[in-house]
Amino acid sequence: MRISIIGSGYVGTTIAACFADMGHEVVNVDVDAEIVNTINSGRSPIHEPGLDELLENHSGEALTATTDYDAVLDTEVTFLALPTPAREDGSIDTSIIEAAAETLGETLQAKDGDHVVTTKSTVIPTTTSETLAPILEAASGKTLGEDLHVAMNPEFLREGTAVDDFLDPDKIVLGTDSDAARKTLHDVFEPLIAETGAPVVDTGIEEAEMIKYANNGFLAAKVSLINDIGNICKEYGVDAYEVADAIGLDDRISARFLRSGLGWGGSCFPKDTAAIRAAAREQGYEPLMLDAATEINDRQPARLLSLLDRHVDVADERVAVLGLSFKPGTDDIRNSRAIPVIEGLQARGATVVAYDPVAADNMRKQFPEIEYVDSPEAALDSASAALVVTDWPEITALDAEFDAMSTPVVVDGRRAIDRRDGIVYEGLTW
Ligand code: UGA
Repeated sequence: MRISIIGSGYVGTTIAACFADMGHEVVNVDVDAEIVNTINSGRSPIHEPGLDELLENHSGEALTATTDYDAVLDTEVTFLALPTPAREDGSIDTSIIEAAAETLGETLQAKDGDHVVTTKSTVIPTTTSETLAPILEAASGKTLGEDLHVAMNPEFLREGTAVDDFLDPDKIVLGTDSDAARKTLHDVFEPLIAETGAPVVDTGIEEAEMIKYANNGFLAAKVSLINDIGNICKEYGVDAYEVADAIGLDDRISARFLRSGLGWGGSCFPKDTAAIRAAAREQGYEPLMLDAATEINDRQPARLLSLLDRHVDVADERVAVLGLSFKPGTDDIRNSRAIPVIEGLQARGATVVAYDPVAADNMRKQFPEIEYVDSPEAALDSASAALVVTDWPEITALDAEFDAMSTPVVVDGRRAIDRRDGIVYEGLTW
């Protein structure tokens, strides 16, 4: 099939490369000429394992990138994979996706026959049918349900495993009220369904939009719930990881996303929980559970720092921060728990020495005043305390390196380090 994707961000580029790998002819449209050139030269504009190989294999053949919207005219279906940034109050700003829908609609004036437009971006229920569809219809001169069809197909890719998540999905959610769009989307995903047997959820547009928020909201709340329970465990000297291992055996609970500690960051859980909470309030509903999930998450860094305070006054002392990215496998520091941890250390007058295998350059933009080192050993050397923020493999492997600290106080936010004689160890929830 011939597919166009508007937007070459983390989602757009990943799905473009994966659709090409599934045997489709794909064109990826983006306003940024530099990103377009990067993709066309077979390289990935983002750090995502497996993406470079896919682009190297398919760029210039099954996959091309362009800044020219006219490329959509040769395709049957367009996916909108554009950013929906957060406003101050947490609600999403749809101006970028609306502008793209306008340009796409104007372009489609020149197309004879049907076209399917599918929202890939995470949007609040009704955005596709009540905001985007009227823009597309007016700009294209086409008629919704006749020669123009809209759909919503949320993505469940995780940063760091996006390619694997796409090629081996838990589910494929297809939301539309149009039989033509449903058939087109089934054709798009057919190779993947045939190969993986992934279940297809055929549903309505608003349901598909909500499934994405429900998925992220549920997982974020699950982590916050195990953090809530973990905080109680800590008060009793109970190991929250032993508790989680046991309850995870109950298949109504399941073992995944039960790692208690510093909590969630990144661009998705914080943004999506904030957006759906703001949307709920706008509808007159108080989303108490999601509010509490956010509140618990916001408090975990302060709990980590209060454990540190029990053992050492860090004013004018060197303190190592181990890990800066919001999770291992990415250089993304958006909403990383490292940020409030560093702020808390600065408020205590500590000299912060930070280590991360890939995220230091990003964090330097936010905290230019702290010291960044190239190895965990360099961070630990002569430090009075170490705070574990991200469980990168090179951090979980640390052991003898703690002996070079001036006082070996290790406060672990990710259950990365083993307790042993010779270090003063505090786990956040164990
Ligand atoms: C998340 C979802 O997992 C994806 O399904 C979704 O597609 C994506 O958001 C999105 O909306 O684009 P991502 O933000 O990449 O993916 O990261 P996750 O692997 O889900 O981790 C989120 C945060 O939760 C991390 O900070 C991680 O450290 C934390 N976490 C996760 C825990 O604290 N404990 C756990 O047990 C699991």
